[in-house]
Amino acid sequence: MTVIAIDGTFASGKGTLAKRLSAHYGLAHLDTGKLYRAVAKIILDKGLDPGSADDCAAAALNITPDILSDPALKSGPVGAAASKVAIHSQVREALLKYQRDFAARGAVLDGRDIGTVICPDADVKLYVDAEPAERAKRRHEELVSYGEDISYETVLEQLKERDFRDANREIAPLRPAQDAHLIDTTNLSIERAFDAAVQVIDAVLAAKTAK
Ligand code: DC
Repeated sequence: MTVIAIDGTFASGKGTLAKRLSAHYGLAHLDTGKLYRAVAKIILDKGLDPGSADDCAAAALNITPDILSDPALKSGPVGAAASKVAIHSQVREALLKYQRDFAARGAVLDGRDIGTVICPDADVKLYVDAEPAERAKRRHEELVSYGEDISYETVLEQLKERDFRDANREIAPLRPAQDAHLIDTTNLSIERAFDAAVQVIDAVLAAKTAK
C-alpha cells in the first residue's frame, strides 16, 4: 500500500497537489487540515473558546466523515481557529487514529505533521512551500472568490501569524521531515508543481522497488 505524505505551509498549493496526485496514483486523499477545521467549526458554532483543550478534545472525538464535506470549513475565521485548536495535544491524539486508519489502506495525506508524526514510514514525503507574499496573493484571490471582503495586507498578516503558530507550537510543529523532498511553488504553475512532484515520487518508488 503506497502512502504519500505531503506537508507544507498554508496556501503553498499542497492541497491542490495532493488532490491531483491522489487521482494520478489512484489513491484515496485525506486533507487533514479539514479535521482541525471541523473541530474549530464545532467550537465556534457552540460559542466555545478554541483555547480550551477539554472542549476542543471533546469536539475532536465527535468528528465524522460527513462534517468534513461542509463548505463552511474553508472560511478564513474557521482556518484561523483551526490553527489554535491544533496546538492542544489532546486534540492531536484524538485525531491520530482517524488519520492512521485512513493511511493504512494506501493514500495521499496532506497536512503539517504527516511525514513527521502521522506517517513517519510513508513511502514518499514531500514538503511544499512558497514565499509568503505569493501564498497571500493566492489565498486573497480564493477568499474574494468566496465573497469575503478582506484586503491583501490583512491576508498576508494573518498568514504570517498562522505560519508562526504552526511552526512554533510545542507538539508536532510544522517542519520538513528529514527525508522529505522540497517543492517550492513560488514560481511554479500547478501543472509544473505537479510534474515536479510526479518526477520525485516516481524516482523514490522506483528506487524502493529496485531494492
Ligand atoms: O491546511 P489547513 O489550512 O486546512 O489547516 C488548518 C490548520 O490546521 C493549520 O493552521 C494547522 C492545523 N493542522 C495541523 O496542525 N496539522 C495538520 N496535519 C493539518 C492542519
